[in-house]
Amino acid sequence: MKYFILFGPPGAGKGTQAAAMVEKYNLHHISTGELLRKEIAAESELGLKAKSLIDAGALVPDEVVEGMIESEFNTVKGVDGFLLDGFPRTTAQAEALDRILEKNGETATSVVSIMIPDEMIKDRIRHRASIEGRADDAKEETINNRIRTYHEKTEPLVEFYRNQGKYREIDGTGTIDQVRQAIFDLMDKF
Ligand code: AP5
Ligand code: MG
Repeated sequence: MKYFILFGPPGAGKGTQAAAMVEKYNLHHISTGELLRKEIAAESELGLKAKSLIDAGALVPDEVVEGMIESEFNTVKGVDGFLLDGFPRTTAQAEALDRILEKNGETATSVVSIMIPDEMIKDRIRHRASIEGRADDAKEETINNRIRTYHEKTEPLVEFYRNQGKYREIDGTGTIDQVRQAIFDLMDKF
């Protein structure tokens, strides 16, 4: 089984590119952000707790997303691998992922990182806000907090995975087609 981590700041294009990647490589897409938004829409207990954190641009507790990931691993069958989008997002989550995979004698295959500068993050999110209406895209303050949270809590994972020799970076500033092609060129090597 292959375990790809799709990494990158908010608005980098993870969700956009994941759609093409899962189809071409027969992967199951796990977006912790999407799973959390489903919980919010269903007004579940978890969703109600997560909502205020997400609306503030903060992270939900590590244990919450770790549980979601493990349950997807255990229930989804018939694919060649998993594509993790928006997870792990803290060093603790990355360590938990290693432990979860180790239990089954598995290991993360590679990190595919889509990188764009902070100013482009804002343009992308403003553009999406006009189309999708995601609550955490609506306020400038939330977007700024998401960017700050990314730099403080998530960016250290670049070093974490570089040290494991698993980090591969793609320039995310091109068109959707250009970025997709760069990702496919990289994925074809695994
Ligand atoms: P999540 O849903 O993961 O949001 P995110 O990381 O902020 O990333 P986005 O979904 O905003 O961006 P994307 O990279 O998917 O970009 P997209 O393809 O849509 O998380 C939301 C929240 O949930 C977090 O803030 C946190 O609170 C919580 N959460 C989630 N996971 C968690 C975890 N592991 N731990 C704790 N908390 C967690 O593209 C953006 C826009 O740009 C689109 O309109 C798209 O059409 C456009 N676009 C894409 N590529 C291009 C391109 N190349 N050129 C031009 N436009 C493009
Ligand atoms: Mg996304």
